[in-house]
Amino acid sequence: MVDLAARAAEVLVRRSEELGGTEAWDGEFRAPLVEKLMQDPPEGGRAPDEVLEQAVADILPLALRLDHPRSFGFVPSSPTWPGVIADFLAAGYNINACNWLVASGASQLECVVIDWFRQWLGYPDTAGGLLTSGGSAASLDALVTAREVAGNPENASVYMSDQSHSAQRRAAKIVGIRPENSRLVSSDDSFRIDVGALASMVKVDRAAGLQPIAVCANAGATATGAVDPLEELADFCASEGIWLHVDAAYGGFAVVTEQGKRILRGIERADSIVLDAHKWFFQPYEAGCLMVRDVSTLEKPFAIRPDFLQDALWGSGHPNFGDRGLQLSRSARALKIWMSVQTFGMAAFRRAIANGLECAARAQEYIDNSPVLKCLSPASLSVVCFRVDPAGQDIADDDLDEINRQVLARMFWEDPAFISSAMPGGRFSLRLCIVNHNTTWDDVRETLQAAERFGKDVLLQH
Ligand SMILES: Cc1ncc(COP(=O)(O)O)c(C=O)c1O
Repeated sequence: MVDLAARAAEVLVRRSEELGGTEAWDGEFRAPLVEKLMQDPPEGGRAPDEVLEQAVADILPLALRLDHPRSFGFVPSSPTWPGVIADFLAAGYNINACNWLVASGASQLECVVIDWFRQWLGYPDTAGGLLTSGGSAASLDALVTAREVAGNPENASVYMSDQSHSAQRRAAKIVGIRPENSRLVSSDDSFRIDVGALASMVKVDRAAGLQPIAVCANAGATATGAVDPLEELADFCASEGIWLHVDAAYGGFAVVTEQGKRILRGIERADSIVLDAHKWFFQPYEAGCLMVRDVSTLEKPFAIRPDFLQDALWGSGHPNFGDRGLQLSRSARALKIWMSVQTFGMAAFRRAIANGLECAARAQEYIDNSPVLKCLSPASLSVVCFRVDPAGQDIADDDLDEINRQVLARMFWEDPAFISSAMPGGRFSLRLCIVNHNTTWDDVRETLQAAERFGKDVLLQH
């Protein structure tokens, strides 16, 4: 057992040392993988080190290396080693953080971590929450709660901007909101929800007999990093008696920095907030979180107590996290957050998050000064969207879309960095999301230079 664990640790440490010198992406087509892996389970086992080596050689490297310092696509993730070890320990101790009886240590630790989040968000003492698999599961729990608080109306409707993550729409669908009652509100030039349009929509819907149960706001929209006007939304939702849910899965942890706190002002007035510690808080997957202003609202929809769990009722002050969301059996997710914060201290987390904010601002400055690149959505939190669009050359938008598709393909195959695309304002755009504690300005600058280089090449052939 020790040898196997030591070999696994050695593989991971070597990978981490070599990561920056590799490509940020590797993958394979289906057929060769089927050939290699599609086998019946063996009747008898084989040497564990042989199994481990096969996983390390044939399976694990075939992935987007989300923790590569030049991994800027989608929303990357860069876990710290104490967090990784915490997941190993939690699995080895086989903790099921379902309730106090079964896991009092892990349950108290979850209370600790949830209380840290509460304080960082500026939430009152009444607030609480739970750790979830991710932002999608947390959003689902949030909308179940919003629906319950609204009295489970038949003709419920929810509202979100056209920039909202698909997780919001999916959550609405799963809680039974009819597709036509999941309403998309237009966003402004800064990709923030148009509160006037929202208000008109709610008015028309009420008149038509719908019952608005929730507004889902963005605190860091995935495509552009846009933050909706949270204070204005909080005023609107308070006056209308509608649950305000904030999707801060990507952007929420910026609140630990002074700059982030300013950008996210008003988040503390939300009824519920989703955070993903596996995004901008440097944890291994899965580390989502749902926070609600009044923790008692969570147990109403979720606490169902069958006889076979009657022994698990320890008494007041001993929360059963399985009563707060859709999972009963749950891994001890708080351990990774706690171990990495204890190891590095909050100053290091603040620096790492501030680095993402700063690199994005510098990226925008670089783009604004580039003769080849043009900014399509200025840095918001740590996301910036841009494309090849040389100043003074009047190239049609459709042609620019195609040119930038080719630039992205060249980046993908010929540059070690991984970036992805977005469509701000309906136009094909390259996009950087900078959330890695190992990313330096040089990583960002050289990636932008690669985009310029490929852009010039593609333009020559145009
Ligand atoms: C803003 C936002 N919300 C929700 C999600 C979904 O979270 P998860 O993938 O953890 O389920 C994401 C994922 O990228 C996101 O960026």
